[in-house]
Amino acid sequence: MESTNQLAGALLTDLLKQAPALVLTANQTAGRGRGRNQWWATSGAMTFSLVLNAASTGLPVEKQGLTAIVSGLAVARVIRATSSHLDTAIKWPNDVLINQKKVCGILVEQHPASTQTGIIIGVGINVNNSLQAAPREVQVRATSLYDETQQYFDMTQLLVEVLRQFEALQSRVACDAASVLQEVNDHSFLNGRHVAIDAGGREMCGICERIDTDGALVLKTEQGIQRLYGGSVTRW
Ligand code: BTN
Repeated sequence: MESTNQLAGALLTDLLKQAPALVLTANQTAGRGRGRNQWWATSGAMTFSLVLNAASTGLPVEKQGLTAIVSGLAVARVIRATSSHLDTAIKWPNDVLINQKKVCGILVEQHPASTQTGIIIGVGINVNNSLQAAPREVQVRATSLYDETQQYFDMTQLLVEVLRQFEALQSRVACDAASVLQEVNDHSFLNGRHVAIDAGGREMCGICERIDTDGALVLKTEQGIQRLYGGSVTRW
């Protein structure tokens, strides 16, 4: 399959009738990343898309922007539970890192489908694959659970745990976003760092203070506090 997000988008109307639905492949050949990025994956990588009906998430519109960071927290929790010795961090807006290298990327897309809105949460986790097989530019900034631990993981168990954690966090966000965001901030890679962010073609530089309860990155810049709702971190 080329891309689980692409297939989920193509089948969205049908998938929403049975949502939550999962599109999963062990062999994704043209994974999509944020913007124009691609997602590299080989055998042993976990690649899936979770399809939700926006109206059934129980989240008001103003909290739906938290989906990517909450998904990242779910993955980080599972990695910490299986390998507590690893230095696992969440990097706003949508990455999970081990030892400062990317182990998981998340691509959240919203699509209108007839009378509903579908949320497609695409998750790629480098699990039993090794980055030694990756192109050089991917190798220098990414890692896998196997590369960090020299162990193989049960993919089914890992997937079930990620989905369980996501479900639990998603329900908690609806009533207590502050406590979920506190946990994100406890493990936020960017907090306290001097960063540069490309926010839609405009570069913003400053010290990252925190991720706020609406998902905004709070940046202390020379012009004062800026709140960013999206962008690519270009330096840190
Ligand atoms: C990023 O880091 O830019 C996001 C990467 C998201 C990759 C996942 S793999 C499963 C799903 N299907 C895709 O085509 N992309 C996402």
